[in-house]
Amino acid sequence: MRVGLTFNLKKGHREGLPSDWDAEWDTEETIEAVRSALSTQYEVILIEADENAVENFKNSKPDIIFNMAEGRDGANRESHIPAILEMLSIPYTGSDPLTLSLCLDKGRAKEILSSYQIPTPSFQVVSSTLERVRLKNFPIIVKPLHEGSSKGVRNDAVVFTISDLKKKVEEVIAQYHQPAIIEEYLKGREFTVAIMGNDGDTKIFPIVEIRFDTLPDGVNPIYSYEAKWLWDKADNPLEIFQCPADITDGLRHKIEDVALKSYRALRCRDWCRIDIRLDTNGNPNILELNPLPGILPNPEDNSCFPKAARISGISYNEMIMNILTIARKRYGLI
Ligand SMILES: Nc1ncnc2c1ncn2[C@@H]1O[C@H](COP(=O)(O)OP(=O)(O)OP(=O)(O)O)[C@@H](O)[C@H]1O
Ligand SMILES: [Mg+2]
Repeated sequence: MRVGLTFNLKKGHREGLPSDWDAEWDTEETIEAVRSALSTQYEVILIEADENAVENFKNSKPDIIFNMAEGRDGANRESHIPAILEMLSIPYTGSDPLTLSLCLDKGRAKEILSSYQIPTPSFQVVSSTLERVRLKNFPIIVKPLHEGSSKGVRNDAVVFTISDLKKKVEEVIAQYHQPAIIEEYLKGREFTVAIMGNDGDTKIFPIVEIRFDTLPDGVNPIYSYEAKWLWDKADNPLEIFQCPADITDGLRHKIEDVALKSYRALRCRDWCRIDIRLDTNGNPNILELNPLPGILPNPEDNSCFPKAARISGISYNEMIMNILTIARKRYGLI
């Protein structure tokens, strides 16, 4: 069996682009770790998710693709490779183009969650600072509508006044060339939940809590860009994850319940990581779904999905192989 591995490689600093421009893409180390895991059982073909991808698919004729390509550009970038694969009738791991695009539009994803009565912070998508703000209460968090890896969610994303809100919205629109989503800021504990599987056969990994007490003094308790990429370094890691989270069985059931409901509502396939925060009543709310979660191989790099798998006794290589096996089963290839 020939497995294609689709990816976007980090390109490093580029003149004129914001420093976080390639934050979502993968390093050679991560791509090599996934290749190495797959190659324990399969012939692996590396296919960069660039403009040559279509030719490369046609020439190399893989039986299935392990897709970890975050996509090059645009609001639908995560769905580009899956859409091409759908056209070429090549099976691939993970969610389909519709789900990937919906989850990359935090507003649309939240509209779907709301229609299933799944709790999510109230929000508004803002394309101009002239728009009337309908959210009633501060603090409010301001994020780019279509980003991940905390791009555009710096420590100052939490705002307390209308003038700071407008300033931040203006900055997001100017820097990221997309609307901002402004949300009711939830002050409660934060968790992230890794899920694998489909239909009647889904596994929820031990819940990870984001420990804001490990952040530097005085900063906002959010898992910001600084917290993910600047303050937490492999050579000096923050002990920012508590896994399994120290919670009651009651809270764990509630968190697992909303996580699974949102996985189904967005029609996620094979795997996903779901970010959750508690509201003032202690009820879990969905912040967002990550149907292409980060999978950094080095435990010191603090990557939630591999961490949760590891805690449940599943090694990195097994985790990668399991994702592929789940996709093969879904296509009837086993
Ligand atoms: N409504 C909210 N209330 C409180 N905190 C929030 C809210 N929305 C986002 N945050 C904080 O900001 C962080 C980043 O937000 P979010 O998860 O939406 O961004 P992201 O860039 O898509 O993240 P990822 O790296 O998981 O792709 C969250 O982990 C959380 O700490
Ligand atoms: Mg997130």
